[in-house]
Amino acid sequence: MTLAQLSGVTVRFGDTVALAGIDLCVGAGERVGLLGPSGAGKSTLLGVLGARIPPSEGTVTVLGTPVDHLRGRAARALRGRIGTVHQHLALTDPVRVVHNVNAGRLAEWSTWQALRSLVSPVDRARVVDALQQVDIDDKIDQPTHTLSGGERQRVAVARLLVQDPDLVLADEPAASLDPELGRLVVRLLADVVASDDRALVVSLHDPSLARASCDRLVGLRSGRIVFDDATSDVTEEMVDSVYRR
Ligand SMILES: Nc1ncnc2c1ncn2[C@@H]1O[C@H](COP(=O)(O)OP(=O)(O)O)[C@@H](O)[C@H]1O
Ligand SMILES: [Mg+2]
Repeated sequence: MTLAQLSGVTVRFGDTVALAGIDLCVGAGERVGLLGPSGAGKSTLLGVLGARIPPSEGTVTVLGTPVDHLRGRAARALRGRIGTVHQHLALTDPVRVVHNVNAGRLAEWSTWQALRSLVSPVDRARVVDALQQVDIDDKIDQPTHTLSGGERQRVAVARLLVQDPDLVLADEPAASLDPELGRLVVRLLADVVASDDRALVVSLHDPSLARASCDRLVGLRSGRIVFDDATSDVTEEMVDSVYRR
């Protein structure tokens, strides 16, 4: 089953060509690692996959939905099925951890449910379960801004766990973490999509982490795909070639 399909996708920002004629198909059960130097187009590609950045040219279909001209309810429904983890975590600082975890369900909830949950968190058991999986359930009622960087990253993963998305997109989720915690977070993300009907696309700074956590690697350079192969078929030389100056 195909979860995302890009055909001939070009993205321009003014005179900058961020992506140039990308063809990419992500199937259910895949864990795809994006590699490439800064400016290669990794974040832009994740934005296109997440229906946040419209292509200047080409067609994009995500979870069976063509994303051009997608608005309102349909856009919200699609985004609810896509889980994103950013380099800079989109956590709301002053509120308690429980609310940031429950934010994973905002797309699924009505405005009324969302407001009610701010007073009395809905489905606390589900939040506790998610926080246990990332080992910070003792922080559930703390104001989010009192958490360390690593703990905040775990909150972001817990939010993803309660959202239960079909497609997980993560943009350098390990970048601001110490190596051990980075590996843990990427493993947790890979676990979220462990079932055969989901997929993960993750950009990673560290090629060895990408090798360890992904079964397919896509090398990007200057907005183009240099390789797209099973991890076991990607050689060190191929990886080096995308980073070479
Ligand atoms: N919103 C934007 N406005 C203008 N240029 C952008 C924007 N986003 C990305 N770019 C440019 O597009 C290219 C690809 O960027 P990006 O996708 O962020 O690469 P990566 O994530 O691999 O570092 C870069 O040249 C970058 O400067
Ligand atoms: Mg980036």
